[in-house]
Amino acid sequence: MRARELTADDLLPYQRLTRLAFGGGPVTEQEARPFSPGLIPLGISSADLPGGADGVIAAGAQIRRDRITLGGGTADCGGIGGVAVHPAHRAGGLFGELMTAVIARCATEGMAFSMLYPANVAIYRALGYQIVSQVQKVQVPLLDLQRLRPVPGTHLEAVTAQSFERVHALYRELTAGDNGMLTREGPLFPTGHPGGTWEAVLLVGEDGTDRGYLSFTRTGGEEGIGLEVHEVLGRTREDRLALLRSLGTWSTVTEQVRIRVRAEDPLLDALPGGRTRMDPQLQPWVMVRVIDTAAALSARPAPAGLEGTLRLVVTDDTVPAGTARAAGEFVVRIADGRVVVDLEGAADGSDVGGVSGSVHLDVHAAALLLIGGRSIADAERLGLGARADAPARALLDTLLSGPRPAVMDQF
Ligand SMILES: CC(C)(COP(=O)(O)OP(=O)(O)OC[C@H]1O[C@@H](n2cnc3c(N)ncnc32)[C@H](O)[C@@H]1OP(=O)(O)O)[C@@H](O)C(=O)NCCC(=O)NCCS
Repeated sequence: MRARELTADDLLPYQRLTRLAFGGGPVTEQEARPFSPGLIPLGISSADLPGGADGVIAAGAQIRRDRITLGGGTADCGGIGGVAVHPAHRAGGLFGELMTAVIARCATEGMAFSMLYPANVAIYRALGYQIVSQVQKVQVPLLDLQRLRPVPGTHLEAVTAQSFERVHALYRELTAGDNGMLTREGPLFPTGHPGGTWEAVLLVGEDGTDRGYLSFTRTGGEEGIGLEVHEVLGRTREDRLALLRSLGTWSTVTEQVRIRVRAEDPLLDALPGGRTRMDPQLQPWVMVRVIDTAAALSARPAPAGLEGTLRLVVTDDTVPAGTARAAGEFVVRIADGRVVVDLEGAADGSDVGGVSGSVHLDVHAAALLLIGGRSIADAERLGLGARADAPARALLDTLLSGPRPAVMDQF
């Protein structure tokens, strides 16, 4: 295999490749430094290819070490970014070769999923990635918010370096039950206040409990939008109303705010006016690939009271057999709030009785479903490969039910 892990010596050639592919200023020597510890950079040297040049990376990509939420559990997820092939080496199959190595590395790292924001959906679909969500932003006229009544028993506090951890703790707590949200840990997410133009206010209850927060950047007011709101998270509907009311105070200096929201965000249900509209900017798709079916399923807690066993057969003809751990015939046992997954035949056999039937999924249906919040009927509607016996269908659908997947961070 020609793909290899890139080292500090490859950083400048890799930066030249990504600037070439995506634009940006020239690469300067000062930028030479090791890759971030949160990233696994992979690439193919031009010199290893027929007629290739020394000191040039022909194809490169980075795998982020991320964790995502899975309805109360979490799983490791390889976030893919910076995928580029040098123009001298395009249209020769290097993309597929590189991405196959990326998928294999995600598997070696024990990741359950891989996630990316595609510039082109089809080329990633061919490798088993499936659209599961889309970044969503809405434009909200502030006149709609300005007349919201005060919510008694709460007050706002400015977020400083000292109080930033309270924002992070709220984010973790209030998105823990979601599907697909990054947990924002580890070296890729610094633990301190982001600084720069990032601002936030905390909503605090009378008893001192943190109830929610609103984070934003004040912008120049282009198109009448003076505030980019990164997120509005509150424990309850009342808390979200209190935060929206605080947004309404900006109505003297700007007409509208743009708010990044999750799929079916509860915030949308708290907006009082009827003039909210989807932001017309192109919003990226979110694609996910299952790397390890057993890890993806067992990371998720089972709903209380749900019990049963099903056979799950996942097929994956998008990458060579053995590249990932998505494909296989699994026995999925759900009991006592846990999901235990064994390869068929590898299960100890002690309690494999009572199997409620089988579910067959291709790798695309598996991605759509295992990230959570969707049903086998959704996979069928999209024309993905999915079929199931009735009791097994009900069991798997119940296990995977929950909020539709959403991701707020872009990479
Ligand atoms: C997109 C890119 C990575 C493709 O690399 P490549 O090595 O030329 O691609 P391959 O030869 O391996 O082709 C892979 C598949 O993608 C398709 N493809 C390649 N470039 C494409 C393009 N610009 N538009 C649509 N499809 C394209 C090929 O037809 C091929 O499909 P096939 O297997 O069905 O024939 C490369 O052109 C590039 O670096 N572009 C600029 C940066 C970029 O867009 N990166 C991806 C960001 S998500």
